[in-house]
Amino acid sequence: MAKELIRLSGCNVAFDGDIILDNINLCVKDKEFLTLLGPSGCGKTTTLRIIGGFLKPDSGDVYFDKVRINDVPPHKRLVNTIFQKYALFTHLNVFENVAFGLRLARTQNKKIDKHEISRRVFEMLDLVSLKGFEKRDVASLSGGQQQRVAIARALVNKPKVLLLDEPLGALDMRLRKDMQNELKQIRQAMGITFIYVTHDQEEALAMSDSVVVMEGGVIQQVGTPEDIYNEPSNAFVADFIGESNIVDGIMRSDGVVEIFGRKFKCLDGGFDPLEPVDVVIRPEDIDIVSSGKGKLTGTVTGVTFRGVMYDIIVDFHGFKWLIQTTDLCPVGTEIGIQIDPDGIHIMKKSRFSGMYGDYSSYSAEYDDIGDAELEHETDDKDSITRNA
Ligand SMILES: Nc1ncnc2c1ncn2[C@@H]1O[C@H](COP(=O)(O)OP(=O)(O)OP(=O)(O)O)[C@@H](O)[C@H]1O
Ligand SMILES: [Mg+2]
Repeated sequence: MAKELIRLSGCNVAFDGDIILDNINLCVKDKEFLTLLGPSGCGKTTTLRIIGGFLKPDSGDVYFDKVRINDVPPHKRLVNTIFQKYALFTHLNVFENVAFGLRLARTQNKKIDKHEISRRVFEMLDLVSLKGFEKRDVASLSGGQQQRVAIARALVNKPKVLLLDEPLGALDMRLRKDMQNELKQIRQAMGITFIYVTHDQEEALAMSDSVVVMEGGVIQQVGTPEDIYNEPSNAFVADFIGESNIVDGIMRSDGVVEIFGRKFKCLDGGFDPLEPVDVVIRPEDIDIVSSGKGKLTGTVTGVTFRGVMYDIIVDFHGFKWLIQTTDLCPVGTEIGIQIDPDGIHIMKKSRFSGMYGDYSSYSAEYDDIGDAELEHETDDKDSITRNA
């Protein structure tokens, strides 16, 4: 891919004695869509603030185009930010919100005349599908439309890099999906670098060239969405990205791992003989066979219909696995399972071992989520009826 554009080298940040970023090393390439992904409080916004110039690292360096920029203030960096709470100017209309950055540039003696401002604002409103909205009061816009104004405002100065901190966080699921596609198209049309922050793993996989998975101020893994999903580096990443059964295993030899006393073929090697490992098996990679024919035999304890398939919970020796299948297996059925070698991924033991990957509490969690969505939908219908 393209050349290096931004580099963080050994960046550390502490607040009140707490380590917030711990030796962050990161390279962002020109025109890349890079996503910082991780749970709340893991240091995503802090990393973005360092790149934007709003925060200096306690130690470590920041480079732009190979030039050290630790001391360059935000407005002199070729970077614009859409903050986690995108504050639009509510006293200005849509046109003036977008024009703001250009007018500021004008007062700083850059030569942008009125016609140029107008041309560029309309170009941006067109790009974000807000043609005809220029005179609207921003307070009268929907959440999605306000989001578009924030994007247009950040892009009007033609930054080389756009930092987006959870820009779709306030939108409902459907609008969020639409905006994900639009953001991808906007980035391609502008040909600029996006550094995007989210804690939504699906969003990260769907949008990014590269994903940086963070936890506790530490980068756990950097890779393409496929790398991160197929070859997670540890139990934290495997659990955070998609659904995973994570079980203890012992490497018998290269290409053979023992799980629950049974040997399974796999594609991984390079471990010590009899090394204890974490084994990841994705729910969609497990084949159900009759109980006599499986490598392992277990009992179905939960079934949830998901439309294209069923999520079933299966108890193997007290450890609950999630399996996704199109076959209906009612609760109480005894089933066998088989797993192809490429459905098994072996990871080194880490400080996350044993913390994730058992689905004992899975169905309860899902019921809660389901109920919340139902309530939300009912509210919407009520309000439509009330307004009608
Ligand atoms: N100025 C500050 N002073 C003290 N602590 C701070 C400050 N800024 C951030 N922190 C702490 O640093 C940690 C990381 O914060 P950060 O905002 O980077 O998290 P995040 O990954 O963006 O989380 P979220 O997904 O909730 O936005 C948090 O524990 C936060 O409370
Ligand atoms: Mg944040």
